[in-house]
Amino acid sequence: MTTRILTGITTTGTPHLGNYAGAIRPAIRASQQPGVDSFYFLADYHALIKCDDPLRIQRSRLEIAATWLAGGLDPDKVTFYRQSDIPEIPELTWLLTCVSAKGLLNRAHAYKASVDKNLENGEDPDAGVTMGLYSYPVLMAADILMFNANKVPVGRDQIQHVEMARDIGQRFNHLFGQGRDFFALPEAVIEESVATLPGLDGRKMSKSYDNTIPLFSSAKDMKDAISRIVTDSRAPGEAKDPDNAHLFTLYQAFSTLAQCAEFREELLQGLGWGEAKQRLFQLLDGQLAEKREYYHQLIARPADLEDILLAGAAKARKLATPFLEQLREAVGLRSFRSSVQASTEVKKKAAKSARFVSFRDEDGSFRFRLLAADGEQLLLSRRFADGKSAGAVSKQLQQGGEADVRIEGLGFGLWLNGEQVADGPQFDSAEARDAAIESLRAALAPQPD
Ligand code: TRP
Repeated sequence: MTTRILTGITTTGTPHLGNYAGAIRPAIRASQQPGVDSFYFLADYHALIKCDDPLRIQRSRLEIAATWLAGGLDPDKVTFYRQSDIPEIPELTWLLTCVSAKGLLNRAHAYKASVDKNLENGEDPDAGVTMGLYSYPVLMAADILMFNANKVPVGRDQIQHVEMARDIGQRFNHLFGQGRDFFALPEAVIEESVATLPGLDGRKMSKSYDNTIPLFSSAKDMKDAISRIVTDSRAPGEAKDPDNAHLFTLYQAFSTLAQCAEFREELLQGLGWGEAKQRLFQLLDGQLAEKREYYHQLIARPADLEDILLAGAAKARKLATPFLEQLREAVGLRSFRSSVQASTEVKKKAAKSARFVSFRDEDGSFRFRLLAADGEQLLLSRRFADGKSAGAVSKQLQQGGEADVRIEGLGFGLWLNGEQVADGPQFDSAEARDAAIESLRAALAPQPD
């Protein structure tokens, strides 16, 4: 069985080296494994929660798309799309919102962090909190459940959200599944092997610390950043301590075991920091120069990127559209055509339970009655000389032969092929008579299969 891997990338920034080593590169490698079906998408609806700068959103979507493709993601092998190109996602979000406990969302870290900060500052707990932030985990659950992802690679801060997706999916299954599980329950995957890269100052590389090494902007930018990596003040010739140098950690994240062992040895032997930085630059540039060039080609042809992403969206929607149709059906958002069918079902039942009963009259003639489900007599046939002709007429009626009902006073007759073949009972009122004719017609109406 193939495992479905899915992850989203919030489009608010420009990917840096830490994003590449920590998320992009392992995801691309995972997508190349046999037996996996990968879904990677730009979480641009999520981006709107954190960012109200349209230009930044636009720019970031383009840069992130180009980064993943330049990094080696094969859009023919994986499903690569923008969240906002899949209208089924917000629609599913609503279905899930309606089964998500508010208490569950009250506990979401991102929302709680904002509330805690407000309380600390003596502000209203919900100051600056949008419904987008509050419902963030439901949108993320829709991303994951829409495609029945089994594994969701995420950073530690997102584990809780994947667990909420499980909870919400389980609740939907329970409420509407009728024994069937609509949603696979996802698991968060934390890549223990990918170290979080340290930034220039040794803290986790992050835009919020302003300590990043750019990924694809230019060789010069990368070189400049590397020159700003903080080291200790040991002079060239003095033995360095690789295990306490984040420059070494950075090197290790991109080197082979042999390269790493060699670099370590050289540091122990007193390699100068300037020289060491040059080595790091060469290692990175060797791995990234070609990708960087491809990145700039992609950025220069945004219309091509648009086509690639739209093709990805079409691929994703091939799954999402019919699946959402089933989910709408499950919650009761059904076509009225199917309710017409349902009422035909009722009629069919009535027709089934209306029955023809044949009998021989005292005078030896052959007759039949049509009785409604409740036993009420709808018709009494005329007299037939033999059973065969009586049977032929009732058969014709059962098969939906053109039944011609003619009103006669407070009763009615039934005609077939220009001959009266049966009589209805006599009624007290025209209303009662008409109601009986209605039931008769329902009982005799041709039944669709
Ligand atoms: N919230 C995730 C983040 O900030 C991005 C994301 C959105 C995501 N939807 C997702 C990750 C679905 C995994 C699965 O990192």
